[in-house]
Amino acid sequence: MRTRSILLLVALGAASLASSAISDSDVVDDLDVISQYWGQLTPYNDNKPSFFGVEKVGLPDGCGIEQVHILHRHGQRYPTSTIEDGGFMEPFAAKFKNVTSAHPSAQFKGPLEFLNSWTYQLGKGLLIGPGSVTEFTAGIRFWTQYGRLLYNATAGQPGYNASSVKRKNPVLRTTSQTRILESAEYWATGFFGFNSTDSYDLLIIPEGGTENNTLASYDSCTNDGNSSIYYIGDYAVINYIPRYLTPAMACISSYLPDGFDLNINDTYGIQLICTYEVAVFGESDFCSLFTLAEWEGFRYLMDLAHYGNYSFGNPTGRAQGIGYVQELLARLRNQTITVSNTSVNATIDSNLSTFPLGQPFYLDMSHDDILLSVVTALSIEYFKENLSMSAYPPDPKRHFMVSHLVPFGARLETEVIGCASANPEAKTKASTIYTLGQNGYNPRDAIHKFICMNNGIVPLDTILGVLANYQYACFGNWTLDELKFVEDGNIFP
Ligand SMILES: *[C@@H]1O[C@H](CO)[C@@H](O)[C@H](O)[C@H]1NC(C)=O
Ligand SMILES: *[C@@H]1O[C@H](CO)[C@@H](O)[C@H](O)[C@H]1NC(C)=O
Ligand SMILES: *[C@@H]1O[C@H](CO)[C@@H](O)[C@H](O)[C@H]1NC(C)=O
Ligand SMILES: *[C@@H]1O[C@H](CO)[C@@H](O)[C@H](O)[C@H]1NC(C)=O
Ligand SMILES: *[C@@H]1O[C@H](CO)[C@@H](O)[C@H](O)[C@H]1NC(C)=O
Ligand SMILES: *[C@@H]1O[C@H](CO)[C@@H](O)[C@H](O)[C@H]1NC(C)=O
Ligand SMILES: *[C@@H]1O[C@H](CO)[C@@H](O)[C@H](O)[C@H]1NC(C)=O
Ligand SMILES: *[C@@H]1O[C@H](CO)[C@@H](O)[C@H](O)[C@H]1NC(C)=O
Ligand SMILES: *[C@@H]1O[C@H](CO)[C@@H](O)[C@H](O)[C@H]1NC(C)=O
Ligand SMILES: *[C@@H]1O[C@H](CO)[C@@H](O)[C@H](O)[C@H]1NC(C)=O
Ligand SMILES: *[C@@H]1O[C@H](CO)[C@@H](O)[C@H](O)[C@H]1NC(C)=O
Ligand SMILES: *[C@@H]1O[C@H](CO)[C@@H](O)[C@H](O)[C@H]1NC(C)=O
Repeated sequence: MRTRSILLLVALGAASLASSAISDSDVVDDLDVISQYWGQLTPYNDNKPSFFGVEKVGLPDGCGIEQVHILHRHGQRYPTSTIEDGGFMEPFAAKFKNVTSAHPSAQFKGPLEFLNSWTYQLGKGLLIGPGSVTEFTAGIRFWTQYGRLLYNATAGQPGYNASSVKRKNPVLRTTSQTRILESAEYWATGFFGFNSTDSYDLLIIPEGGTENNTLASYDSCTNDGNSSIYYIGDYAVINYIPRYLTPAMACISSYLPDGFDLNINDTYGIQLICTYEVAVFGESDFCSLFTLAEWEGFRYLMDLAHYGNYSFGNPTGRAQGIGYVQELLARLRNQTITVSNTSVNATIDSNLSTFPLGQPFYLDMSHDDILLSVVTALSIEYFKENLSMSAYPPDPKRHFMVSHLVPFGARLETEVIGCASANPEAKTKASTIYTLGQNGYNPRDAIHKFICMNNGIVPLDTILGVLANYQYACFGNWTLDELKFVEDGNIFP
């Protein structure tokens, strides 16, 4: 029998924590530590520039950033109902209510004593306060890092100044889903300043039906909603939960009143409630019930869920990301898109008022799923891996970690670099796009070699990897023989 003791980490401090050995049986309740294990529910943190294995080098003389494309994730929200997210929290809460109302004298003991006066108080799907802060901060940060430069801010200018230059408002895009829309508005308030809705146009693209929307591309990709096909991420989740939480279930059960039959899914639900209560209330008694190893399992489960649902492990992984990649390429090439064979809406993308060219920056507010599918459509081999559906502890050297790829407020940035004075060729081709090489930025034809994920530089193998078999992947009549990860985020007849 293992014992669970609560480490008093407050006294240790974060610095000593990194080096102190935390054994498997130790429960960790330092939120700064465990929140780094929350997968896509992790609060935003910059990655170190070299996090993805590429060293940062400066721009050579005469080169500068001319344009930035941002694909952004919304901020902290209430749970959704996907299986790895809110799916098991509400059943636990319902069971809890059931047992406590049938047996009002039932007593929770020891570390579960707090349950004697607990109620489930989480909402669904909406952006919460800390999420608005995440987005607002990201908008300010973008003004500071790029906006001042792109908009030629004058000395002493505190923020975007709509009246200083006569220009068309930039168009920012968002889906219509409330948390996405509000995230875009908070971001814009950070970038443009208070009371600034006159300074930009927000294009709201519907989400939630079967429309074409590159920022919610699962909607138009019919096979994505087909559970007989599209169940790989869920399968990985169901399969993995018992592998890492069975001992926790037994331990927690020993403090429950008679008649409370806690199953493995409830145990996972409890672990999730910790993350959401912390986001909403700033603290949660559920957080002190799990060991660091169990948080490592939790983090890996999120990786498996996303790899299998939206990335290289899913036959529609590339298809779901290709629409945004086509838009990115079109913007880089200064072209509109007149015909769609993906999730692109050609009515929107052929019109310069809804698909403007030559903006200093582009902000597209979206979901974690879409950022990951875009990374997949871009063929970033670095993230293509043979992830084991059962390894516990998981491989700590894996590259695909959603806690670093798509935390709340994640951003995927593509910079356009110009070197007008450094290179004679560039003088005649002012909009030439440059690649960032190991030794600096080297001119090349309209091809990027790197993108940036939460400040970490990600190697891009080839932008020609965007070819995805959209029509067949999304609409084809195919089934999978086995529920296991596919190799390349794609499927062919
Ligand atoms: C995977 O996608 C399916 C279909 O959209 C969805 O029902 C399910 O909740 C998703 N699961 C995960 C783990 O994201
Ligand atoms: C609540 O209790 C009733 C009666 O024992 C049972 O039939 C029902 O399945 C329970 N519901 C949940 C969510 O546990
Ligand atoms: C900033 O200045 C450069 C160089 O004069 C000019 O090309 C660019 O259009 C200006 N940007 C904006 C947003 O006004
Ligand atoms: C904004 O620009 C106008 C015109 O250039 C200038 O008069 C004003 O001082 C600027 N405001 C700020 C806050 O920089
Ligand atoms: C908000 O902006 C409008 C239009 O630019 C302006 O008329 C109004 O005075 C501003 N309100 C505040 C509270 O700054
Ligand atoms: C494309 O966008 C137009 C303009 O917003 C809209 O009317 C139309 O329904 C959209 N079509 C699809 C397939 O989403
Ligand atoms: C956990 O949930 C999955 C998916 O709904 C289900 O297949 C499985 O039987 C559940 N496990 C238990 C112990 O209830
Ligand atoms: C980009 O396309 C727009 C619209 O067609 C055009 O007005 C503009 O001059 C083009 N810019 C460059 C740098 O080619
Ligand atoms: C929507 O997507 C479908 C499938 O790729 C495509 O055939 C259709 O033309 C698109 N609609 C628009 C308005 O772009
Ligand atoms: C879309 O159509 C273009 C032109 O026919 C083709 O080059 C491209 O491969 C197609 N893309 C997809 C995703 O089918
Ligand atoms: C799911 O796919 C199967 C096989 O292609 C098909 O028979 C079924 O109609 C699809 N279901 C839905 C809801 O699209
Ligand atoms: C889909 O494929 C299955 C098996 O090959 C076949 O039985 C079925 O008729 C097909 N459905 C459609 C709508 O073509």
